[in-house]
Amino acid sequence: MCDFESKKILLAITGGIAAYKSAELTRLLVKSGAEIKVLMTASATEFITPLTMQALSGNPVHTELLDRESEAAMDHISLARWADCILIAPASANTIAQIAHGFANNLLTTVVLASTATIAIAPAMNQQMWLNAATQSNITSLAERGAQILGPGEGAQACGEFGPGRMLEPEQIKAQLYEVLKKAQPSEQNTGKGLSNQRIVITAGPTREQIDPVRYISNNSSGKMGYAIAAAAVKMGATVTLISGPVNLPAPQGAAVINILSAEQMLEAATTASEQADIFIATAAVADYRASQISEHKIKKQDETLMLALAKTPDILATVAKLKSTNNPKLYCVGFAAETKDVHAYAKKKLINKKIDLIAANDVGRSDIGFNSDTNELELIWPNKQTTLKKAEKSVIATQLLLAIKSELEHDR
Ligand code: PMT
Repeated sequence: MCDFESKKILLAITGGIAAYKSAELTRLLVKSGAEIKVLMTASATEFITPLTMQALSGNPVHTELLDRESEAAMDHISLARWADCILIAPASANTIAQIAHGFANNLLTTVVLASTATIAIAPAMNQQMWLNAATQSNITSLAERGAQILGPGEGAQACGEFGPGRMLEPEQIKAQLYEVLKKAQPSEQNTGKGLSNQRIVITAGPTREQIDPVRYISNNSSGKMGYAIAAAAVKMGATVTLISGPVNLPAPQGAAVINILSAEQMLEAATTASEQADIFIATAAVADYRASQISEHKIKKQDETLMLALAKTPDILATVAKLKSTNNPKLYCVGFAAETKDVHAYAKKKLINKKIDLIAANDVGRSDIGFNSDTNELELIWPNKQTTLKKAEKSVIATQLLLAIKSELEHDR
């Protein structure tokens, strides 16, 4: 049975005779537990009324990009953020072309452009329009960027022709969408309690290196990535110690949290906790330098320039990794590499220099992932292979990372 419990689906309807099927699709998805909000293009409203869709979805229907009233209730950015999945059904050739080229000229295209949700597209058009090289190239380019293409089916068309381009039936769309969402969000069924005998130590957030009583050196880490890994590890049954720099996040339920400020404090907590651990994951953005001497009093503003002597902070990850050759040979060490250029090459260097098992390369030059974002994309690099965790919510990336580690441990041990 397809269970869509608590899934937030934004159903986007474009103009086409298949729009009538969206009513049944909505009914089926609502019945399966999904929360549905509907968005319609102007031409879609010529085929089916917003009132029908409002009655079936139980929510107001969104039609205008610049409508003061609907923007006040839920603006297009909120709508983009709300959705777990944007399902465009039916998707006309015109809308497919627009989103393939990044247009933001109506509510639908703007929401798609502003969203990090899974995009599922159920095309519906005349068979010649579907077969046209332009449409095929648009579909290929969307699929390459991660959009899920559902159908189309083949058969007799409303225009009297026969061929590919019919929108799939609502039941087929529902079944395919279920598989798409299952893959996008690893469920408890496929994560299981697969880490139940593992002790995991995770560092998260920034460190804060005091310069004087009121100033410090730090960085933009929000802690979201590390906290997501801690929460996912607890869910998978692990015993989790989270060593956290100063962040504004609630402690993940079930994890033992050790709050620290400086790299030196993080080092002490991490080495102690890792002595008995199975896995160490260094997500923290540790400040690389600290003031050589912390001024006892606030440094007064005098000259135009101020020279500050800095000293390297200890390398926590490399120090913990040394435990592998001394106290704790079973420890599996995972680092993160935050880079803005030559991401793969620099990350690989860190993997080797720090003598760790796995490094997650994070392109922090991008504003849509990395520091302080709710989404991330990582390249996992082992000494002899690599794989990419495609852009997704940090909670999803966290589970995927842990599943990758779990699978390595199953091979190694
Ligand atoms: O916290 P968020 O806002 O969610 O952002 C997540 C993140 C971008 C911080 C995270 O995904 C990430 O990339 N973390 C690594 C940040 C970093 O400092 O990378 P680095 O390339 O400078 O360091 C390499 C590795 O060595 C890291 O695992 C780091 O924790 C560790 N390190 C670095 C310096 C140091 N003195 N001690 C360390 O242990």
